Amino acid sequence: MYTGIQHLHSGIAYLALLALVVVIIYMLIGSLSGREFTEKDRKIGLIAFILCHIQLLVGLILYFVSPLGFAMLQTGNAMSDPAARLLAVEHPVINIIAIVLITIGYSRAKKPGPSRGRFRNIYMMYALGLVLLLSRIPWTLWLG
Ligand code: HEM
Repeated sequence: MYTGIQHLHSGIAYLALLALVVVIIYMLIGSLSGREFTEKDRKIGLIAFILCHIQLLVGLILYFVSPLGFAMLQTGNAMSDPAARLLAVEHPVINIIAIVLITIGYSRAKKPGPSRGRFRNIYMMYALGLVLLLSRIPWTLWLG
């Protein structure tokens, strides 16, 4: 169970991060071109939104089955060890905030309004979210 969830979380991370980068560039180009924000644009924004939400759910499960998540907090020294603090506290908290920002961006873009503003809501909030996500990825654990 643990290994399966861990691999799933590791794999969806590639898809979610890649989707965010592609969608940010796509929305930026849409905004600069001055064209209408269409239903197709909303659906493209939705792809990254859904991948982030799946990752959130898998992350929450992983947090409680992994020895590196909630279990770390119970050892009592997670806060004084930077590597343990990253996984047990910073990665979950900052990533949840990032996904809230992405959700706000998508929800605002869904509402009718000037097209440029709708594109901007997605690329600005997704970019903010992406920066937060990248700042708290356990890089050595993932790619090391
Ligand atoms: C879009 C959001 C997220 C991304 C891109 C992401 C990405 C990652 C990556 C790349 C790893 C390293 C995987 C590996 O070792 O191969 C990881 C580990 C982990 N993540 Fe996330 N994560 C996200 C959200 C969350 C959330 C919301 C939680 C918890 C509430 C969470 C909990 C964990 C835990 C506990 C680990 C350590 C797992 C282990 O190796 O035992 N993640 N995450």
